[in-house]
Amino acid sequence: MAMRRRDRARRIGTAGLAAAAAALALAFFTLASVPSAPQVPRPEGLPQCAHAEVDGLALTPPMGWYPWNMFGEEPQNETLIREIAAALVSSGMKDAGYAYVGPDEGICFARGKDGRLAPNRTRYPSGLRGLGDHIHGLGLKYALYTDAGTHTCSGAMPGTKSFEYEDMRSFADWRADYIKIDWCNSQGQDIVQAYSELAKAQRAAGRPVVHSLCSWGDGYPWVWAGAIGHMWRTTSDICAPGQADWARAIRIAFANEKLAEFAGPGRWNDPDMMIVGMPGMSESRNRTLFSLWCLMASPLIAGNDVRAMDKATVDILTNLEAIAVDQDPLGVQGRVVWNDGNVSLWAGKPLFDGGMAVLVLYQGKHRAEKKIYWEELGFKAADKLYVRDLWKREMSGPHAGSFTVSVGPDDVAFLRLSRTPEFPIPPIVVADTYRVALRATATRPETLTGTVTVTNKGSSDLPPWRVAPKSLPPWLKIEVTGGGKTWSFVNTVSTAGLRKGAYHALVRADNVEPVSGRPMTALYYDVDLEVPRAVKR
Ligand code: GLA
Repeated sequence: MAMRRRDRARRIGTAGLAAAAAALALAFFTLASVPSAPQVPRPEGLPQCAHAEVDGLALTPPMGWYPWNMFGEEPQNETLIREIAAALVSSGMKDAGYAYVGPDEGICFARGKDGRLAPNRTRYPSGLRGLGDHIHGLGLKYALYTDAGTHTCSGAMPGTKSFEYEDMRSFADWRADYIKIDWCNSQGQDIVQAYSELAKAQRAAGRPVVHSLCSWGDGYPWVWAGAIGHMWRTTSDICAPGQADWARAIRIAFANEKLAEFAGPGRWNDPDMMIVGMPGMSESRNRTLFSLWCLMASPLIAGNDVRAMDKATVDILTNLEAIAVDQDPLGVQGRVVWNDGNVSLWAGKPLFDGGMAVLVLYQGKHRAEKKIYWEELGFKAADKLYVRDLWKREMSGPHAGSFTVSVGPDDVAFLRLSRTPEFPIPPIVVADTYRVALRATATRPETLTGTVTVTNKGSSDLPPWRVAPKSLPPWLKIEVTGGGKTWSFVNTVSTAGLRKGAYHALVRADNVEPVSGRPMTALYYDVDLEVPRAVKR
């Protein structure tokens, strides 16, 4: 596997995104044929390709925020989630790519006598659809939580068992874009069958969602879950709510790195939400945790109180050079390539520009030096490489054969190596809104418009966006304008001949790599049209 990765790194060395996309196809192929998988049942009735190949979601690791690490169950309510969403915007985290946000386990719904889920209006006065609309209006994506068993872990909320189709319909009605599905209270259930059924129910509900499986590694999800969802927890919880646990986080990182071969675009190992910025963390630990998660192409789900962060924490969470490693379109997970118990060298992460991300972690008490040899990373000893320090933001080189770093306790050196002095940031897509809401005012035909603007915060350009016209209802037309860093989706609605009612369209736009025709990003947004009175033709 190591050799294959090195070959791949070389092959993409001279090219840009076009070759990267072709390499994505290779990644899907090689990851699907991993030999060392334990014997577990495979999902039936679902495509055996990665789920993301169908919906285009999570082709790079999902980024967002979830409440559990900091808050646990209390106080989770609409006010908290709205304040957090506002802070994601004002802190710059949204512009760095964090998008998914919403409640975890926090008593947000109950099952009614009719079997359907009903939001808890005391805690969520706008309802769960209302909260979703608010989050979409901010240009963020809506995340919700449930469980595959009879109840969630605390027992406070109903699980989806025996109500898979009804519940996934409710999540779609509430406009969820991401669903974390826990594995508590699932005694007697077959894990592959249970999560497969939920994936089928999600498809039946008609709204593509990032499916985050949360069985803490039970049932070896890395073997089969790529056909069902987009990410899966590989370990138990990273901390008890409210307090970071450094030793546990490091153990989790070392357990997760061993699963590197199973990750790829649209199928991610999830070592749990981050503890960056939580009580119990220092600045160097924050930097280290974040670097490890980026090197491992982990979902970057922040878990701290983003309403009250110091500048150092914001700078760490929004370091685009580190995020570029996590969000690299090749989607290769880095791993440990050398370890003496105190110092470990993490590499094996080729990047789309032909470079390589490398990390040195020091777990000793004083300070350590580590000489990194090009050959142990898959380069040639004679190669001359530029080195970019992603935390000092300094470039040096070209260096022949090796480079030495000095690292303090619980700290890292996080580097990017390249044959050229350029260190491009891959596309990071940020939208001003994910919802266009229009209202007809007259009984004569009207034309209404609303625009979604998408900005690419990376330094590499995106290929053009395409909206499949077949997917649109007759009342909606979309024109895509712009290019380079900013694209506008101009939505034009014609009300002629419409009956009174609420109309909805979920628009999918694909960012298609021109040579291979592979999707690089799929963008989904909602268009709502309210027609209070029938309109003449
Ligand atoms: C499990 C999950 C956590 C959190 C809690 C909620 O422990 O692993 O991330 O969702 O359930 O009860």
